[in-house]
Amino acid sequence: MHPRNPDSGPRNIKLRYILEDPEGLTVSGRAEHEIMAAKGEHLLEVALDQGINIEHACGGVCACSTCHVYIEQGMDCLSEATEAEEDRVEEAPGLRRNSRLSCQCVIQKEGTIVIRVPAWNRNAVKEVPH
Ligand code: FES
Repeated sequence: MHPRNPDSGPRNIKLRYILEDPEGLTVSGRAEHEIMAAKGEHLLEVALDQGINIEHACGGVCACSTCHVYIEQGMDCLSEATEAEEDRVEEAPGLRRNSRLSCQCVIQKEGTIVIRVPAWNRNAVKEVPH
């Protein structure tokens, strides 16, 4: 996973992460995090940068489903899922209509984006990248 690019442009898009298992995902144990982000950033890289340790067994190359999240608001602000992502996300436990792989979600439009990180994220089965 790439670190956040400090030159990515104005961070004027509000992301709200809701963690179902805050103790498992963060040191602070806080369940809600509001983070400003820029167009072009990925939901996973922003979360990791802010100490929200979403699993990412394959390193963010769409080869696992451990970075699975639910987009509760702002799906239209994100890049559309590719066929590869759709195939992968189907392997995630607890699949819903608003399921996405956070490493594949690129912020494309201004708006408010609400991301729910499921509790079982920490316990997702690790897969070996292909
Ligand atoms: S980290 Fe593996 S698909 Fe996102």
